[in-house]
Amino acid sequence: MVFGVDMPYPHYRCPVCGKELPLTEARMTVTCAEHEPAEPPAAFTVREVTSADKSGIEEICDRAWGETLVDSFGKTFDVLSAENIVAEAGGELAGLVSLAADGGELTMVLLSVYPQYQGSGIGSALIEAAVASAVKRNLPSVKVAVGNDDISSLYFYQRHGFVIFDVAIGVLADKLGSASPGFAGIPTRDEVRLRRPAC
Ligand SMILES: CC(C)(COP(=O)(O)OP(=O)(O)OC[C@H]1O[C@@H](n2cnc3c(N)ncnc32)[C@H](O)[C@@H]1OP(=O)(O)O)[C@@H](O)C(=O)NCCC(=O)NCCS
Repeated sequence: MVFGVDMPYPHYRCPVCGKELPLTEARMTVTCAEHEPAEPPAAFTVREVTSADKSGIEEICDRAWGETLVDSFGKTFDVLSAENIVAEAGGELAGLVSLAADGGELTMVLLSVYPQYQGSGIGSALIEAAVASAVKRNLPSVKVAVGNDDISSLYFYQRHGFVIFDVAIGVLADKLGSASPGFAGIPTRDEVRLRRPAC
C-alpha cells in the first residue's frame, strides 16, 4: 500500500459536512451511544462475487489500498485469487471483504466500504459474512491486521469481538523505509493483529 499522503482517493467522508477525506485529513469524534447519523442508512445486499465483478473489485482495491496485492501477517495475498464477498447498494458496489485461509484460520485480507456508504451497517454485515465463511470452511477463527494509526478500524474490529493477539512492531515502517503519515497524520509503524472466534 502507498500510505497516507500518497493515496489519491478519499478513505472517509465527513458525517457533518459531507467532505471526502484522505486518510491524513480524517479525525475522530466521540459521541453518545444513542447518537444517530444525520443521513438515513443505505439499503444494501451482500453476495458472493461473479466474474462480472472483477473490474469493480480492482477499483475498490485501488481506492482503498492502491493495488490488489495486500501484505499482512508476513505474507502477500492477492485479492483477485481470494474469496470475495461484496455489498451492493443503489445498484453499485458499496463494499468488499476478501478472504483467504492461512495457518488454520481465515484471514480478512481486505475489508473496505466506500466512504458514501460507511455507517450503514455494511462493514458489520461483511464481517458476519466472513465469520459464516470460516464456519463453512470449518476454520475456528477469523483474523485481520490493521496499522497502528487506523484508530477507526481498531475501534470497529474490537466492537465486533476481535481481540488483539500480536503487534508486529515496526514492520510497516520497515517496509516503506520510514513511518508514513496515516489516519489523522499518525505515523504508520506497526501491524496490529486481531482475531475473533468463528462461533
Ligand atoms: C471500518 C469500516 C470497514 C467500517 O465500515 P462501515 O460500513 O462504516 O461500518 P458499519 O456501518 O457496519 O458500522 C459502523 C460502526 O463502525 C464505526 N465506524 C468505523 N469507521 C466508520 C466510518 N468511517 N463511518 C461510520 N462508522 C464507522 C462506527 O462508529 C460504528 O460503531 P458503533 O456501532 O459502535 O456505533 C469502514 O469505515 C472502512 O472501510 N474503513 C477503511 C477505510 C477505507 O477502506 N475506505 C474506503 C476506501 S474505498
